[in-house]
Amino acid sequence: MTSSAIAYRGSVLHCLDEPEVAGEDAIEYYDDALLLVENGHISALGHFSESVLPNGVDLVNLQGKLLVPGFVDTHIHYPQVDIIASYGTQLLEWLETYTFPAEMAFAEESTSVDTAKFFIDELLRNGTTSALVFGTVHKQSVNAFFDQAKSRQLRMICGKVMMDRNAPDALRDTVESGYKDSQALIKQWHNKDRLGYAVTPRFAPTSTDAQLASAGKLLDENPGVHLHTHLAESADECDWVASLFPSQQDYLAVYEQFGLVRKRSVFAHSIHLSNQAWNRLSAAKAAVAHCPTSNLFIGSGLFDMRAAMKAGVPIGLGTDVGGGDSFSLLRTINEAYKIQQLQGYSLKPEQSLYLATLGGARALDLDAYIGNFSIGKEADFVALDPHATPLMSRKAKQSKDWRSTLFNLTMMGDDRCIYDTYILGRSSKRCETA
Ligand code: GUN
Ligand code: ZN
Repeated sequence: MTSSAIAYRGSVLHCLDEPEVAGEDAIEYYDDALLLVENGHISALGHFSESVLPNGVDLVNLQGKLLVPGFVDTHIHYPQVDIIASYGTQLLEWLETYTFPAEMAFAEESTSVDTAKFFIDELLRNGTTSALVFGTVHKQSVNAFFDQAKSRQLRMICGKVMMDRNAPDALRDTVESGYKDSQALIKQWHNKDRLGYAVTPRFAPTSTDAQLASAGKLLDENPGVHLHTHLAESADECDWVASLFPSQQDYLAVYEQFGLVRKRSVFAHSIHLSNQAWNRLSAAKAAVAHCPTSNLFIGSGLFDMRAAMKAGVPIGLGTDVGGGDSFSLLRTINEAYKIQQLQGYSLKPEQSLYLATLGGARALDLDAYIGNFSIGKEADFVALDPHATPLMSRKAKQSKDWRSTLFNLTMMGDDRCIYDTYILGRSSKRCETA
């Protein structure tokens, strides 16, 4: 056994498939498990009493903790850390009032570096081990992010915003510079270690036809990169898109026209969509990022999860910080639950866990690497503490099974429940910056 092997003892819960589709078989739970990690990958998982600890391997005792796969945040903006929880506006006014001014500061490299460091610490503190991340229009914002993600050995996707109209001068690129900078970033970062690039037009209103076409060209020229943008978030935004693109049948058609709707395309929000648009997303194998904290905070609307599931569109969860008011995927699940409750659907705890882990990995087409504890996958995981607060502990003591423990954690939990986050099998506490 190599010296890079390490073993963990604790309760383990993960999804092998989507619970709403596969039922009970989708979930695997071990009350007392031995999880073995070799060279950063899962090499064994079984009941502790039936497992053999290989000679010379350190055993980390996490009894009393619930080990789940690392959370996957499928939509977040790292440059918006400082405008989290900004008062009193809805989407379009929020962009003008808070977002654009904040993003201007990322012309300064030191702002990018400082914020990227803080942002990644905060992800790990919240149990998020992979994310699909917006930079700003500035190339250096993405360099700073990838530098940080690389030094922590994280699996992350990021991209430079493309935005050549309807934004302040200082935040606009051009068709040519947006294309050239994106190409250079792809060359420098895509598929380096665990990093991937996402072509990132902000949303339809801030790109000309020519820029959306150049985004499609980037996708054609660079197989494997993602497409990351916003879709149908607020009613006012949808009206604006209809007036800017009068010849298109709907919002999604704007992206379709330029070849942006395909596998590895991720559309944040996707609230105001027809069933027909859901079917088109499904046929194209595109995915959506549901961002409940943001949708409630900005007042954008209620995501129709059943319509997405019925169409078979992969769904991930996104915090959408700074539109969303929390980095925590546990808080995000809490709000997702309430949004579905308002529509007469009670999201099952195991389906929520799926959305935050394997479902997110599938939405990003990264499930070959992350999302559960299948043998050979990268060992990114979280140890959750069901007893993190007095009230949670009181509830946890009454819990009869993993389902109620999980429901307590997802309804009442937040960063206080993250006992530790492990990257490639190693505690991330060891690589936190001061
Ligand atoms: N639509 C266009 N840009 C943004 C953004 O930065 N955040 C959110 N939530 N929606 C957007
Ligand atoms: Zn967003």
